[in-house]
Formats: sequence, structure tokens, C-alpha cells
Amino acid sequence: MYRFQTQHKLMSYLNDQRGGRSLGFVPTMGAIHKGHLKLIQAAKKECEMIVCSIFINPMQFNNNEDFANYPNTLNEDLEKLEQLDCDIVYTPATNDLYTENEEAKQFNFGSLGNYMEGKFRPGHFNGMATIVEKLFNIILPTKAFFGQKDLQQLQIVKELVKQMNSTIKIVSVATARENNGLAKSSRNQLLSKQAKDQAGIIYECLIYCKRNKNRGVV
Ligand code: PAF
Repeated sequence: MYRFQTQHKLMSYLNDQRGGRSLGFVPTMGAIHKGHLKLIQAAKKECEMIVCSIFINPMQFNNNEDFANYPNTLNEDLEKLEQLDCDIVYTPATNDLYTENEEAKQFNFGSLGNYMEGKFRPGHFNGMATIVEKLFNIILPTKAFFGQKDLQQLQIVKELVKQMNSTIKIVSVATARENNGLAKSSRNQLLSKQAKDQAGIIYECLIYCKRNKNRGVV
């Protein structure tokens, strides 16, 4: 596995080595778990060369404490990617992607960005789309792989690609879950065992709503 820490070196490598091969891209913020591994496996099935990025994007955090506590497990992450036979990993520092005092680009995703998570995390989707657009422009993937866990993010990324007039195909991959149904997530590392057990109720509620959706769930 080749590791690049600057976009300049990554772009020049891809330019030399890519040829006509299809390129699958899996963007992550690290703390790699089974959900990420499923994305990489899906990418390997559909593409000839795989790039994964690990970058904890400060621009998409609307809460400083959340940013400070976000798990950072780079060495373990690199080992996991190596074991999965990922071809290339891009692990930039912040100044490789942002200029000093750069602010998030202001997108217009219409109502897609304003409800659910968008309502409670102001600036989050603009920050996320800012970095995803930059990464797409650096890597120029054929296909990019996103988890269904972040359903609103997935829809916004599809809209982003349309607004970029890009041919990148966005592939969505089913959520990986713990035995009790809790979606695998990097932030789960921050939960106590008890909290993790209790969080299984979220999945039970989702299943209940799905089963009863035609009966009007209140
Ligand atoms: O889903 C994530 O991990 C992040 O939002 C992403 C897509 C890597 C952008 O930072």
C-alpha cells in the first residue's frame, strides 16, 4: 500500500500509474471500523484501483468538543487498510487541503441540507461538502463509496456531484451493525459498554417504525 501525505505527490502518482484503470475512492475520517471495511470491499469488487483517505476534517465540526474528542487511531487504521489490500491511502495534514483562515464553501442544497442533521448541526454539511469536493477534484475517482448510515450525507454528496457536473458515480453501501443493531460508527469508541448496550434501542425503534409505517406510527 502506498501512502501519500500531500495532494501534490498523490496527484502525480495517480497521473503516472492510473492508465485507463477505474478508480474507487473511500473517504474516511479514520477510526476505521467494519463499516469502512465494507466500503473498501465494495470498492474492490467494482474498481481496479482503490484510494482511501483519512482526514479528520475540522470544517465539518460545529462543536469544538466533538472535534477534540474525535478518535484518532492512525497506526491501527493503516494496518487495517494494509490487510485489506487497499492500494493507496492519502493522509493529509490540514494545511495540505486548506489555506490559512479558509472558510467552508457555501453550497445551496435546498431543503436537503436544512432538515434533520442539518437543522441541529449548522455548517456541518457545507463543511463536509467542501472537503468532499476538494478530495474528488484531487483524486478524480470513477466511483466513490459512502455508507447508508449517513443517509442525509449520502443524498447531499449525490447532489454535490450533480452541481459539479461530474461523472463520478456515488455508490451507497449498507450499514454495518453491532449484534444489538447499533450502527458501527467511529464515535462508538467514545461510548461506555452500558451506553452501547442501551443504544440498541435506536435500531429497535427503526425496525418498529418500518414494520408499522403503513399503520401511522405515533
Ligand atoms: O463520513 C465521513 O466520514 C465524512 O463526513 C467524510 C465523508 C469522510 C468527509 O469528511
